[in-house]
Amino acid sequence: MHRLLLAAPFLALAAPAHAATGEAVNPWVALAYLVAGVFFILALRGLSSPSTSRTGNRFGIIGMLIAVVTTLVTHDIANIAEIGIAIFLGGIIGFTIARRIAMTAMPELVAGFHSLVGLAAVLVGWAAYLNPSAFGLNLTPDHQMMVGFLPMISPISKVEMGLGIAIGAITFSGSVIAFAKLSGRMSGSPILLPARHVINLGTLLAIVVLTGLFALAGPKETLPLIIALTVLAFFIGFLLIIPIGGADMPVVVSMLNSYSGWAAAAMGFTLGNTAMIITGALVGSSGAILSYIMCRAMNRSFISVIAGGFGADDGGGGSGEAKEQRPYKQGSAADAAFMLEQAEKVIIIPGYGMAVAQAQHALREMADLLEEKGVEVKYAIHPVAGRMPGHMNVLLAEASVPYENVFELEDINSEFAQADVAFIIGANDVVNPAAKTDKSSPIYGMPVFDVDKAKQVFFIKRSMGGVGYAGVDNEVFYMDQTMMLLSDAKKMVEEIVKALD
Ligand code: TAP
Repeated sequence: MHRLLLAAPFLALAAPAHAATGEAVNPWVALAYLVAGVFFILALRGLSSPSTSRTGNRFGIIGMLIAVVTTLVTHDIANIAEIGIAIFLGGIIGFTIARRIAMTAMPELVAGFHSLVGLAAVLVGWAAYLNPSAFGLNLTPDHQMMVGFLPMISPISKVEMGLGIAIGAITFSGSVIAFAKLSGRMSGSPILLPARHVINLGTLLAIVVLTGLFALAGPKETLPLIIALTVLAFFIGFLLIIPIGGADMPVVVSMLNSYSGWAAAAMGFTLGNTAMIITGALVGSSGAILSYIMCRAMNRSFISVIAGGFGADDGGGGSGEAKEQRPYKQGSAADAAFMLEQAEKVIIIPGYGMAVAQAQHALREMADLLEEKGVEVKYAIHPVAGRMPGHMNVLLAEASVPYENVFELEDINSEFAQADVAFIIGANDVVNPAAKTDKSSPIYGMPVFDVDKAKQVFFIKRSMGGVGYAGVDNEVFYMDQTMMLLSDAKKMVEEIVKALD
């Protein structure tokens, strides 16, 4: 899903930003944009399942090509060479980054790209404000302009401009913070300012009031208002994201995705470009729906996500280290293989560590061997396992794990009580019972797998020192029925496969 969500607003923003006049009312243009919109809808539909996602991605590319080419050929472009160079350079940069980026670094890349969408919206808004004639927004007649009259913009255009700049600036600064947190350049722990809710609410109100004043002000009074509006919006984006704790970042990324779509849609209104409105609204609403689904999965309130600072009430966790040395049982690949062979039912819980180790192919081999020996094997996928929505599904699909063996949390959680083995491979937060029992934990309230109900738990991770993304110790390490398999996930599973063979 992210590939489309990334690509769509960029190109849609970039092309009209360079267009020299407003939207043509040519019905062929409207039809072309409508066709592009249909392709985007088909793309979203295709991207909703791993088996159709490639087709969906192609639909998205076709839709975007139609939108960009239509915009370029139907607008009075001042300098087509500049646009060609910009598209070429942007394309090379995007292509290189997309080829080089590791799957595990996807969320920070997504956050980084969202920041660019937000910045583009701010720049388009400012360009339209500074040179409204170029965007067909100047109401002052030419003869008056020639004798020194300032350009006049209609209040409604100024509201659209103000909204686009405000949402774009919030998206930009929020995404920069999300990027810094996700890439480890900034601590993932929540940073809680005193009275942050009052400050946030006050700032948001001030932005709304400033937008109103900006819309109603005469040409001479607008500059300080638009500057104040932009600065406050950058500030609130920063304030909304810093209080959000590590494990809640996935929801933030999809929420910023949604904001970037609305910023593009607002700019579409300013520029009178239907393709941008359609694309922005699709990105905005699909991001909002994804945020809502993830909020439900994480047991968080949607409203508190939008308001910022959820999952951050107490300072629990985030230390990055397991706090004390406690006794635990350690086993070897041979021990694990022996017990797996005896089991009737094994549930595998993959997590971020499986992605890091690229252990999915070895895991599939292990599952095949067990199935040959008559063991029932199922995969349990948590909605936020890994570092991006659908991360585990993509990796398992890549290893040709049959879809019918892969289950969502709510469909499989009740089965742990009948499982002989819960096989945790590189997962941590998603099996941490602190989410159910410890109110001070940053993951409290997030639904987790009931692995403690399984007869035996195997826990693959590299060392006892490492913790999960949320930075909290995990009681499962120390349970009587847990055997820690301390090693790189791929190496450990390959050894188990050898032992099973
Ligand atoms: P985590 O809680 O991050 O735990 C990963 C585990 O993998 C750690 O125990 C780590 O321990 C182990 N590990 C790392 N590299 C390994 C390797 N090469 N071999 C074996 N083990 C390895 O993972 P999770 O359970 O999947 O939870 C995901 C977390 O990320 C949640 O908190 C979620 O909120 C957050 N998050 C999710 C997303 C999305 S959208 N899915 C986006 C951003 C953040 P060692 O270091 O000791 O090996």
